[in-house]
Amino acid sequence: MNTFGIEAKASEFVEVHSEDELIKLLKEVNTKALFILSGGSNMLLTKDIDALVIHNKIKGIHSEILAEENKVLLSVGSGENWHDFVQYCIHKDYGGIENLSLIPGYVGSAPIQNIGAYGVELKDTFYNCDAVEIKSAKKVTFSKEDCDFGYRDSIFKNGAKNKYIITQVRFILSTANHNLNIHYGAIKSELENKGIINPKIRDISEAVITIRKSKLPDPNEIGNSGSFFKNPVIKVSHFNTLREKYPEIPSYPIDKKNIKVPAGWLIEKSGFKGKRWGDAGVHHKQALVLVNYGNASGKEIKELAEKIQKTVKSNFDIALETEVNIF
Ligand code: EPU
Repeated sequence: MNTFGIEAKASEFVEVHSEDELIKLLKEVNTKALFILSGGSNMLLTKDIDALVIHNKIKGIHSEILAEENKVLLSVGSGENWHDFVQYCIHKDYGGIENLSLIPGYVGSAPIQNIGAYGVELKDTFYNCDAVEIKSAKKVTFSKEDCDFGYRDSIFKNGAKNKYIITQVRFILSTANHNLNIHYGAIKSELENKGIINPKIRDISEAVITIRKSKLPDPNEIGNSGSFFKNPVIKVSHFNTLREKYPEIPSYPIDKKNIKVPAGWLIEKSGFKGKRWGDAGVHHKQALVLVNYGNASGKEIKELAEKIQKTVKSNFDIALETEVNIF
């Protein structure tokens, strides 16, 4: 139940299939320690879980064509698999999330870290979400503004952290004249390779799937949680100093004072790419992805992550923050 393939035991475990079932359960469990489990694709378990694990199985996709031209509102159960939902939309020709193809995890976790890939983020099509407050077992709706989305960030990682369980997520997608996002270099060249001049959303989804498969390990084959660290944002002055020593350092502008640097480059430059300690390693095609080759423990992966953080800090004076949640 975790894509890193780590062995860990839960002291208690329950599945919930609807919001009503969840509300009933929360009223019964009262002050018990809880652990909310969705797709298990963004977490590293370093020990057994001494809590009641609630596994989200809230399913269902409902669509409503809006009066606004070419728009559809989709309301999706938080326990739906994200990629299956993306494929459902491609099949129906609903545009807006095709660049987010093949991201592991469930729909309900997507707003928590504002998932993003190839120039698109969840927030671009997000409308609102329903959640249940754990303490009161009451239902609340969070608008897009309430969610306070940022780069791999939202209110659910800050003020609302561990306080709510998301049950439904709503998106507004396009039904025609899709606003395609094909500017990301790798997508452009993948479409060119295939000789596609006027891409449809399905072509973009397929291009993204090809790119992801070529770079990122399949969790069904090699345990991993995608990007282990966030791409750090540093001061432009700091970047300029680094560029004197490393003229080839890649970067993405943020604003006048800040600039983002790919963590994968910092890790590769620090010599970790493709290295392995026992069954814990750094992927050979994408240094931002830590992998479990079989029987690594969560502790071993965590130790490797700390070794990387220490080395990157000493080489570049940059503190890498984890993107994956460590328990
Ligand atoms: N790079 C290296 N060596 C590496 C990996 C990357 O030098 O081993 C450098 C290259 O210069 C490359 C640049 O980093 O051009 C960016 O690499 P890539 O396009 O693979 O993207 P990323 O910044 O490493 C981010 C997301 C991914 C997302 C891709 C594509 C984060 C933390 N990660 O990775 O998201 O798929 O962009 O948009 O922002 C995830 O969050 O789990 C995830 C996989």
